[in-house]
Amino acid sequence: MNRPYNGWRASANILEMYDDIVAVTENQPLSGGHFLLSLHSPRQARATRPGQFAMLRLLGRSDVLLRRPMSIYDTKPAARPRGRSRAKGSPEIIQLLYKAVGRGTRLMADLQPGDRVGLLGPLGHGFFEEDYLPQAREADEILLVAGGIGIAALLLPAKQLAGAGFGQRLFFGGGTKADLVGFREFKPLVRETLLATEDGSVGHHGFVTRPLEAHLARHRKKNFLLLACGPWAMLEAMVEIAKSYGHRCLVSLENRMGCGLGVCLGCSIRVRGEGHGAYERVCTEGPVFWAEKVVWEREQVLES
Ligand SMILES: Cc1cc2nc3c(=O)[nH]c(=O)nc-3n(C[C@H](O)[C@H](O)[C@H](O)COP(=O)(O)OP(=O)(O)OC[C@H]3O[C@@H](n4cnc5c(N)ncnc54)[C@H](O)[C@@H]3O)c2cc1C
Ligand code: FES
Repeated sequence: MNRPYNGWRASANILEMYDDIVAVTENQPLSGGHFLLSLHSPRQARATRPGQFAMLRLLGRSDVLLRRPMSIYDTKPAARPRGRSRAKGSPEIIQLLYKAVGRGTRLMADLQPGDRVGLLGPLGHGFFEEDYLPQAREADEILLVAGGIGIAALLLPAKQLAGAGFGQRLFFGGGTKADLVGFREFKPLVRETLLATEDGSVGHHGFVTRPLEAHLARHRKKNFLLLACGPWAMLEAMVEIAKSYGHRCLVSLENRMGCGLGVCLGCSIRVRGEGHGAYERVCTEGPVFWAEKVVWEREQVLES
């Protein structure tokens, strides 16, 4: 849906969002401790725009008090009973692609169909708010760049771009082959998928920024727009490379979050500017930013 833009950044608070208790329909284990969680949540699914996220709350767990932020990987119509034709119609299911890394996500891995969770969303600005889409129109090709679970933020944008006729290419990197989940869904949407793993188990042996840089070097006359999500260090390196070739990047950031609603300021990052305006909240002003706006400094990295 097109929303009027009056020269100021709308807060996520005035966009459509809901705080709902929703049912798990599936929690599919994938390789490398990853899972694809499907939740029945029609009004949140319908309100979702590409690049937004949701905050998931485990019910009845006082030991995991805070909600956990998760990109909305996909939205789908509800599955039809066996024997009936393929599911179609407006979306009812929200899918989250996640990696079990700590207490909250390990408990998520135990969720079974029929269990209920709290879901606050959709939240944040997606990839096509404000002037993002007009910029895409000026590009010869869109390059999607994902590091690890960052892939989860890019499927819905890729679908929207493919639907609008944009040519796209996916660069996807991770530690090892088992980390590269969720990219097969991109196949009908992109011209090519280039994989990279740090241990060389599949694709290019090394960081994903290598095949990306090779592509930029091969096509110096082309104008690319990069859409990226992944670890801070990967984004920082990618932004440097893209800048040296004169291309713009939109980055989706995954800083730690407390409230997801713009209240606690826990997700704030330093951006170009002065005074109060030199900080923005990833949850409300983001999670998508123009790369040149972000101050790429080490202290903004989430150390694990
Ligand atoms: C906007 C946004 C979208 C996200 N989308 C996804 C997604 O689609 N899929 C997914 O698997 N994860 C995603 N994350 C990261 C996810 O929120 C964290 O992995 C999760 O909150 C960890 O919770 P936990 O209780 O399991 O881990 P904790 O016990 O809280 O922490 C365990 C380990 O994970 C690290 N960690 C915690 N939060 C983050 C974070 N935000 N980024 C990186 N490392 C973190 C900690 O430093 C620690 O080492 C997203 C984060 C944000 C802000
Ligand atoms: S997470 Fe609380 S302000 Fe962003």
